[in-house]
Amino acid sequence: MRLACLLVVFSLLACAKPQGAPDKVNAAQAIDAVSIAIMAHRRTYETLVVERLSQAGAMQVSPDYDAEPKHLPLPVQFLERAGSDVAHSPEGDRLKFRLISLDAINTSNLPTSEFEKEGMAKLAKKPDVPVRGIFFEKGRTYYQSLYADKAVSMGCVECHNAHPRSPRADYQMGDVMGALWVAIAIDEKQ
Ligand code: HEC
Repeated sequence: MRLACLLVVFSLLACAKPQGAPDKVNAAQAIDAVSIAIMAHRRTYETLVVERLSQAGAMQVSPDYDAEPKHLPLPVQFLERAGSDVAHSPEGDRLKFRLISLDAINTSNLPTSEFEKEGMAKLAKKPDVPVRGIFFEKGRTYYQSLYADKAVSMGCVECHNAHPRSPRADYQMGDVMGALWVAIAIDEKQ
């Protein structure tokens, strides 16, 4: 009887898992998928919210949106705000992300670790190859990855080049302006 039950359980498990599917997700694949979702949210906010509301003359974007209730945050600030929201939530020790740059307008976006500094130099040479690493913090193990954030439109170039706090005024289309840093906890704790 027991053996029969075990056989049923085994056959159910065999049906549930397609042949050849791995039991665990590869950390690099998982973190790449998270980064795609983060960047897609920034793009969607830019095209569906910022562009529509600005074209309709309803609202304008401004870096000082906090002080101006009728102003919208810039797409980068939207991403930063989401990152700080996660950081202050109960999920804050499972997922971390932020934008960084060696030529940051906002100095709190400067690289803070050797991994980030060296990673930015590597991305400048090979923008399409994410830089990976492991780090430990408060008893947890994290897998981290840096992705190049390139000047994909003249908006990026013109605004950063003209910004009074930007250390660089010579950005061109396609330049690496910074990077998205993402870290996910990979230990067994939930
Ligand atoms: C209208 C102006 C404007 C546009 C357009 C713009 N940015 Fe920025 N960007 C800023 C400002 C202002 C900050 C600093 C925000 C803050 O206070 O954290 C910033 C921050 C950043 C950062 C973080 C490092 C830093 O400089 O503080 C990156 C990376 C970045 N932008 C890349 C881009 C890219 C790529 C684009 C185009 C897809 C873009 N930006 C479009 C104004 C702009």
